[in-house]
Amino acid sequence: MKITIYYGSIHKKKGNTYVIINEFAEGAKEAGAEVDVVLLAEKKIKNCVACLKCWTQTPGQCVLKDDMPELLDKLMKSDIVVMATPVYVHNVTGIMKTFIDRMIPIIDPHLVKIENGDTGHFKRYDKYPKFGVIATGGFPEQKCCEFISQYFKRLSIELYSEVLFEIYKGQAILLKMDEKTPLGPLVNDYKKNVRKAAREVVEHMKISEDTAKQLNKPFIPEEMYIEQANKYWDSRIAHYEETKK
Ligand SMILES: Cc1cc2nc3c(=O)[nH]c(=O)nc-3n(C[C@H](O)[C@H](O)[C@H](O)COP(=O)(O)O)c2cc1C
Repeated sequence: MKITIYYGSIHKKKGNTYVIINEFAEGAKEAGAEVDVVLLAEKKIKNCVACLKCWTQTPGQCVLKDDMPELLDKLMKSDIVVMATPVYVHNVTGIMKTFIDRMIPIIDPHLVKIENGDTGHFKRYDKYPKFGVIATGGFPEQKCCEFISQYFKRLSIELYSEVLFEIYKGQAILLKMDEKTPLGPLVNDYKKNVRKAAREVVEHMKISEDTAKQLNKPFIPEEMYIEQANKYWDSRIAHYEETKK
């Protein structure tokens, strides 16, 4: 099984989301999958210029010269594509959205009724990869990824596919807590559960209810998180005020 993870954060390997991606990739490899992680921030991906030549003059091929043809080729050759993104203002990052906009060559322009009475486009290919979603947010509740969940479910229908699994994590700033801090063991358990989830995806094409339940547990109570986050911001602001003197 070939899994490609597309990661849309400017933080690249230093990102909170990368902590989950790394564990997921390792777990999937343990279960026998071939896994590639693509850091979209390292790729040259121009904005779609809406010429729609990929639908008319050069069907299936974008005329812009950048890394997208190679990335789309990889996507179409994958069994599972994992879209991994931080939450930016309730949605995916700009990097991820630009990548998604540039995916339009893989569908055909003609309109057709798809699921639930929605309109979509015709297929260009017989088979599309299945999707997985990983997202992290700085708000304390899992709900911070709600819009992203809806978005990828709708997108997957458009691409004659489905979302096989979702891993969402609020309180994501805690993912990089030092092992020696009181939260270290909780984060370690979380990482183990991400690996388990990845193995389940490779073996059963889904995350079990029990593992999903573990992954959806908050690290700390929401009120405590808010209090700690506000203290952190106060100290950062005070630090800059101090350096101005
Ligand atoms: C511009 C911007 C907007 C953000 N918007 C949200 C948001 O709407 N909800 C949320 O929970 N976190 C939000 N965050 C926090 C990030 O989602 C969070 O820190 C994430 O874990 C960063 O992931 P990364 O380190 O992999 O880039 C925002 C961060 C930035 C920089």
